[in-house]
Amino acid sequence: MKKIPVIIDCDPGHDDAIALLWALASPSLEVKAVTTVAGNQSIEKVTDNAIKVLTKARVYDIPVGQGYSRPLIGELNDGGLIHGETGLDGPRLPEKAFEKVELNSVELMIKTIEEAQEKITLVALGPLSNLARLFIIRPDLKEKIEQISLMGGGTYGNWIPAAEYNIWVDPEAAKVVFDSGIPIIMAGLDVTQKAYVTDEENEKLKAQGNEVSIFVSELIEFYRQYHYQVEGFPGCTLHDPCAIAALVHPEIFTAEQCHVDIELNGKLTRGMTVIDRIGYLEKIFNEKKERQVKVLFGVDREKFVEYLLEAMARLP
Ligand code: RIB
Ligand code: CA
Repeated sequence: MKKIPVIIDCDPGHDDAIALLWALASPSLEVKAVTTVAGNQSIEKVTDNAIKVLTKARVYDIPVGQGYSRPLIGELNDGGLIHGETGLDGPRLPEKAFEKVELNSVELMIKTIEEAQEKITLVALGPLSNLARLFIIRPDLKEKIEQISLMGGGTYGNWIPAAEYNIWVDPEAAKVVFDSGIPIIMAGLDVTQKAYVTDEENEKLKAQGNEVSIFVSELIEFYRQYHYQVEGFPGCTLHDPCAIAALVHPEIFTAEQCHVDIELNGKLTRGMTVIDRIGYLEKIFNEKKERQVKVLFGVDREKFVEYLLEAMARLP
């Protein structure tokens, strides 16, 4: 099977951790590098967490590059409210088995893309600050990028009513990425909030008995609290794993090719992904807009959970 070479940019974060583990367990992906971005917690904490998750999976040979401490503009508004003080509250975390590399996140992306023999897929699971910096500093490398699979956005929000957290943290970065000309698969809230794990399914995961399955079930036990108490969902929403599942099991999703733009100035809407599902800009205003984004809207939830459990069972 031909493997898809990926760089995973993340802000672990409970769902980032599960997405990273799913990528490591997937025979169809080759994780070339992991880069971190400030979001769910400070850049230092999410970087430590990324290394601890790799350590948990007993993967010691994937380079981890630390990102910047803040978005392109302004200060970081971290997601500690949901992910806790460590960014991965809940389960006991292993000590780091290795340290981050000297190169920072963007330098590691550049090195990895330059050295690759084939086009790289970027998987973005947090604010898009690193991808934006990469495209600003080295626009020439865009031609060596196959596509971007990202978790972010939606036709509604989850941090402010109009905007999803990853886009809201760094809207200018999102604008650079959505205007980059690179094909995007967007796992926004319309699909991720349908990709939840019930308590019963989480018990099945824990009963698999291997270390990583138990670890992931404990991550879900912590992360589900927010989705029950604040959002009133019937299970724990797995946002970031959708961006991985879209690459390894695309057949379980429904999608529409849309033009997507980012609102930067609205008092109530800054950070909103403006998704033109019908093509109004072209039909009404004769403005030719590229439908650059494959927006995921639906998922076979049972299959999603089945594949998640299968993947976790393949790890230590
Ligand atoms: O809105 C959900 C996104 O914000 C996920 O990536 C989660 O990890 C947080 O970063
Ligand atoms: Ca994330």
